[in-house]
Amino acid sequence: MHHVRGVCSLRLGILCFSALATTLPALVLAQNQAASTIVHPQTWPAAHSPLPPDPALEKHIHTLLASMTTEEKVGQIIQADISSATPEDVRKYHLGSVLAGGNSKPGGSRIADAQQWLALAKAYEKAAINVPQGRPAIPLLFGIDAVHGNNGVVGATIFPHNVALGAAHDPELIRQIGAATAEEVRAIGLNWAFAPTLAVPQDVRWGRSYEGFSSNPKLVAEYAPAAIEGLQGKPGTSEFLDAHHVIASAKHFLGDGGTHDGIDQGDAQISEATLRDIHGAGYPPAIDAGVQTVMASFSSWNGVKMSANKGLLTDVLKDRMHFDGFVVGDWNSHGQVPGCSNEDCPAAINAGLDMYMAPDSWRGLYEHTLQEVRNCVIPMARLDDAVARVLRVKLRLGLLDASKRSAPSLDGKLDVLGNAAHRAIARQAVRESLVLLKNEHHLLPLDPHQHILVAGDGADNIPKQSGGWTLTWQGTGTTNANFPHAQSIWSGIREQVQAAGGTATLSADGSFTQKPDVAIVVFGEDPYAEFQGDRPNLAYKPGDDSDLQLLKHLHAQGIPVVAVFLSGRVLWMNPEIDASDAFVAAWLPGSEGGGIADVLLRKHDGSIQYDFHGKLSYAWPRNAAQTNQADANPLFPYGYGLRYADNGDLPELSEDPGIRLDNVQSGVYFMRGKPATGFSLILTDAGGDTKPVTAMPASSPQGDLHATAVDYHVQEDARRFAWTDKHPAQFAIVAEHAQDVSRQANGDMQVVATLRVDTLGAGDTTIGVACGTNCHAEVPVQAALASLQKGHWTRLGVPLKCLQKRGADMSHIDQPFVLNSAPGTTISIASVTLASNADQTVECEGQ
Ligand code: BGC
Ligand code: BGC
Repeated sequence: MHHVRGVCSLRLGILCFSALATTLPALVLAQNQAASTIVHPQTWPAAHSPLPPDPALEKHIHTLLASMTTEEKVGQIIQADISSATPEDVRKYHLGSVLAGGNSKPGGSRIADAQQWLALAKAYEKAAINVPQGRPAIPLLFGIDAVHGNNGVVGATIFPHNVALGAAHDPELIRQIGAATAEEVRAIGLNWAFAPTLAVPQDVRWGRSYEGFSSNPKLVAEYAPAAIEGLQGKPGTSEFLDAHHVIASAKHFLGDGGTHDGIDQGDAQISEATLRDIHGAGYPPAIDAGVQTVMASFSSWNGVKMSANKGLLTDVLKDRMHFDGFVVGDWNSHGQVPGCSNEDCPAAINAGLDMYMAPDSWRGLYEHTLQEVRNCVIPMARLDDAVARVLRVKLRLGLLDASKRSAPSLDGKLDVLGNAAHRAIARQAVRESLVLLKNEHHLLPLDPHQHILVAGDGADNIPKQSGGWTLTWQGTGTTNANFPHAQSIWSGIREQVQAAGGTATLSADGSFTQKPDVAIVVFGEDPYAEFQGDRPNLAYKPGDDSDLQLLKHLHAQGIPVVAVFLSGRVLWMNPEIDASDAFVAAWLPGSEGGGIADVLLRKHDGSIQYDFHGKLSYAWPRNAAQTNQADANPLFPYGYGLRYADNGDLPELSEDPGIRLDNVQSGVYFMRGKPATGFSLILTDAGGDTKPVTAMPASSPQGDLHATAVDYHVQEDARRFAWTDKHPAQFAIVAEHAQDVSRQANGDMQVVATLRVDTLGAGDTTIGVACGTNCHAEVPVQAALASLQKGHWTRLGVPLKCLQKRGADMSHIDQPFVLNSAPGTTISIASVTLASNADQTVECEGQ
């Protein structure tokens, strides 16, 4: 045994023996050495940073490191979220970076404009370099999920999501989008975009499929350098990481798109060759293009969490691919490593993670990491390497270079957001990404002199055409009014039809007074992000055929129907395709809805404006069970897409989904007044007698609680629960199989009830969950309910985190909603779901 020299805390007087120092890495190693998780780095392609060796820069890093205290070093490798760490915290704990998570906005607001962002960025920037005399002032990296434009900011250009860009098959366009996005991030004072996603999704039941360009590794490999050079600038030129560009993150390393059943943050049970050749395809080109950060995936490879996979993070990525930037974790992803918590995870840094993304856990993580460096659980050499990597990226960005810092920059040039040039690129991207799947009798392109009916709930709906990661994390809770520079699909059509002298009418439900010549129906998936978008099969909206009925209704009246389908993925929807004369996959086009009219409508003089250009970058499924992209017999193969000259007739398609379609959607417990499939309702009296609710009306055994049907939007789509004047009683939603919502609790998800208080009794009211034998948690909601306007529907949320703090076991929720109240209360409930926003969120008092 030999000592690890000079790295341990003298204060604690612990000597660092190598045995001690390697305890944890050894564990991880053991984990990695299970047969299917052994990595053979020499079989992976090599890669190289395009930047020439820079001895002056390395010397600068060395000098800085030598001057830093252990506290300062540990701070550098921790990234906190703006909703949990103030500028003062950044100063005090020497934090190396902050991020703004999908729902984290300046001042805790729900959505924020550029001015608010800029002010916030300046406050953090100032705090980070506000150090005592003689201490190194190391500026901050401020990261944001600018994944389709600088999408978290009001007024930004919203580009089509990556699924659409894949269909464009145009790397030059990807480069331009990266460059425009970088400018819009810089304008608000930020310097790091968590993009591009280089996932190669193989099972699009995965809710993040739309973040991946393609299921084809070749296309992802071709796009990776374009996206990165767009964001960071081209290495070897003066634009590289200049004041118009930002740091990029290739994510999520590795295998995020290969998880079993397409489960978000799940396990990729695949061979090393598949991991390397399919899912790894984008990384060597990304490194060759100079990408400065790589984000470790939440997911696992054959049971080993990526955030602590030494073989892949260190041996493959750093040693074999010569990646010399830094590896950042994902949102508390280290906390999912066995033996770790959000506040404590030496295994991750020891495996090669260089910066922890510790949104709300940063303080505990800082303390534990500091301790572990002092007692050699984390070798000082590993910490130094991690810090050196962070500093290298900061130096390359010119953060410590006074002349670069004072050079003219885009900082504060807020008119860059949504400017005409950027919007023109976005509109081009919309045009290029549309894929034509059917064009019966050459219905398209349409003559704009006609009378055109524009129907469907997506027609005039900018949030819906933009999808998740738009202003809010899930892309929900916003309206057209939140998008000042944007254009809806309807508005783009109207503009051109009116200019041509035709008439365009908007009618979401398809009703009309004067029969149109043709109808364009815009419909599709509602916004979602991450695991919220995971689905059990590929059927489009099982259990809700309202869009199909709309198409059929118009068709039955002899009106030719053009379907414009908004979605984050390919889906089985043969009934909808059958019911349409022309069918266009429009993906999630973003703020420039006008790009749709550019392609669908002819010019004034009858000539074609723009032909279809897009070709599928994913295979279109033949039935709802065809979940594997590699399946040999898809309905439309990869690369499929019609042009105007093609024969677009399509024979009637089979409407057999291939599996039984249960209307199961994760996180939905109660909808339209009814429990979701797999859930039931139970009424419980004060004495504990229970009764399942099978029909309306219903009463608890002793009659303390009565349930009746009431109307919310339509007839009897809600339930009213009335407590009699005798005793308290309980209403609960019970799950057939316990639910694991621990990943939903790692963020700001809430149990949200759409409810209306009619009367409120004098006793206590609580909302809670149950989690197996003797396991439950509840939060008092009496005050929150009392503050609601009587008789008005509200979406009231209780944070999962709050229930977790009060003792709920999030991995085993068997009653996701339990409402206790007192005599005299009457509450009506329309739905109970998990969501990331609510009209009103209950305070987690006393915590
Ligand atoms: C996502 C990342 C994202 C990060 C920060 C995570 O949940 O997986 O893609 O960059 O949050 O918002
Ligand atoms: C954040 C996202 C993050 C997610 C992880 C959310 O609360 O806003 O940025 O990706 O949690 O679960």
